[in-house]
Amino acid sequence: MRKQELERVARAMVAEGKGILAADESAGTIRKRFAAIGVESTEALRHRYREALLTAPGMAEYISGVILFDETLRQSTHDGQPFAEWLQSHGVVPGIKVDRGTTTLAGCPGSRITEGLDGLRERLYEYQQLGARFAKWRAVIDIDKDVPTAAAISANAHALARYAALCQEADLVPIVEPEVLMDGTHSLQRCEAVTDATLLAVFAELVAQGVALEAMVLKPNMVISGAEAPERASASEVAEATLRCMRRRVPAAVPGIAFLSGGQSPLEATRHLALLNHERAPWRLTFSYGRALQEPALQAWAGKASHHEAAQREFLWRARLNARATAGIWRESDEVRQ
Ligand code: 13P
Repeated sequence: MRKQELERVARAMVAEGKGILAADESAGTIRKRFAAIGVESTEALRHRYREALLTAPGMAEYISGVILFDETLRQSTHDGQPFAEWLQSHGVVPGIKVDRGTTTLAGCPGSRITEGLDGLRERLYEYQQLGARFAKWRAVIDIDKDVPTAAAISANAHALARYAALCQEADLVPIVEPEVLMDGTHSLQRCEAVTDATLLAVFAELVAQGVALEAMVLKPNMVISGAEAPERASASEVAEATLRCMRRRVPAAVPGIAFLSGGQSPLEATRHLALLNHERAPWRLTFSYGRALQEPALQAWAGKASHHEAAQREFLWRARLNARATAGIWRESDEVRQ
């Protein structure tokens, strides 16, 4: 029963025409996002902002699951219902970020490794009790001259698989997130080579460590030019290279691939997702966006209680457009507001 239930949750997370909201910014990251709109990061304001997103009317039409940060999983709506319970009762699967961020990887200058494996088994059991049904761990692969090394990829893949195996033991579906960063001047070809090597290593480790591929969701980067590349590849080149890379490296047993936005603009992230869904693929191709779903909502909110509904409107607008992209029915003209 346990295995079947995990598989059911994994499929629900990538349900047709829906995607995942990543609202799991760590304390440091949310401070940065709030600073960009001139808002101080206090617990009360974080609560207010995240409550606006999670309780946006009708969001379950477009959103299958939400990744929460530890603080939010322990919080409730203003009328006292724990957020995890509130989401579940609206048909949205609650999840939790469980990694503890990155640090420099000894022996591999320029590369990072994600921390948080120590004590993870106990934390996962607690998160399960608190109502989480899936978890997320983000590994970061930097691209630079002679970076990443095979050792950096292998260390990150190993940690991702250890995390994923622990999640399934604790009845949580793991989101496996190996993010090849967009930072830098590298070409699309270089991103493809690094993403390819990373996914190859990640799936080898997942299989070696006994992770059930049917009961996980992959959250990769798209194959895309570096943000500062002199000539950036077109949207159709991004979609083509991304699909080629996924087809080569992601087993069909995985129910879905939920891409991160990784610094793409909201429009770019939607357009790319729409193009990815123009062709048939063995897995659901959807979104698990943080910035690309939240940027306009954050701007509209600006820390003001009177902008609560405006923030919700902006969030729902992007959620709907991405839902259309994942269903293969988004058109450029949909972006025009009536
Ligand atoms: P972005 O979509 O902003 O990259 O965030 C997704 C995420 O969860 C990163 O870990």
